[in-house]
Amino acid sequence: MQQSVVAVAGALVLLTLFTAAVAAADVEHGKALYQTCAACHTERPDALGPSLKGVVGRKSAALDDFRYSNPMRRANLVWDEDNLRAYIQDPQAKVKGNRMPYGGLSDPKDVEDIIAYLKVLK
Ligand code: HEC
Repeated sequence: MQQSVVAVAGALVLLTLFTAAVAAADVEHGKALYQTCAACHTERPDALGPSLKGVVGRKSAALDDFRYSNPMRRANLVWDEDNLRAYIQDPQAKVKGNRMPYGGLSDPKDVEDIIAYLKVLK
C-alpha cells in the first residue's frame, strides 16, 4: 500500500517536471524558427523588413531608416509580448493592411519560442 502511494507520488513529480520542461519557451528552437523571419528581417540596408534587434518593448514603426506602410505607422503599438504574440500569429488581424508578406505562425509553442528568441536578439 505504502509503496504504491510512493509510486504514484513519484509519477506525479515526473509528470510535473515533464510538463514544465515542455511548457518553457525554447530559445534555441526560436532561433531556428527565426530563420524564416530573417529572410526579410536583417540589418542589411536592402532588407525587405525592419531590423528586429531590440524589438521587444520598442514602439511599432519606430525605425527612421525603414519605410513602413501607413497601417503600420498608424498602429501605435508597443511590441510587448502580448502584441508580438498576436501579430506573429496573424499579422493581418493584428495590424490590418500592413505589408508584411507573412501568413502567421499557428502553433502557440512556436510563437512563444520565437518571442523568447526576440528577447535575446539585441
Ligand atoms: C517576406 C518578408 C517577411 C517575413 C518572412 C517576416 N516579416 Fe516581419 N515584416 C516585414 C515587413 C515588410 C514589415 C513592415 C510592415 C509594414 O510596414 O507594414 C515587417 C514588420 C514586422 C514587425 C514590426 C516591426 C516594427 O519595427 O514595428 C515585426 C515585430 C515583425 N515584422 C516580426 C516578424 C517575425 C517574428 C517574423 C517571423 C515569424 C516575420 N516578421 C517574418 C517582412 C517580413
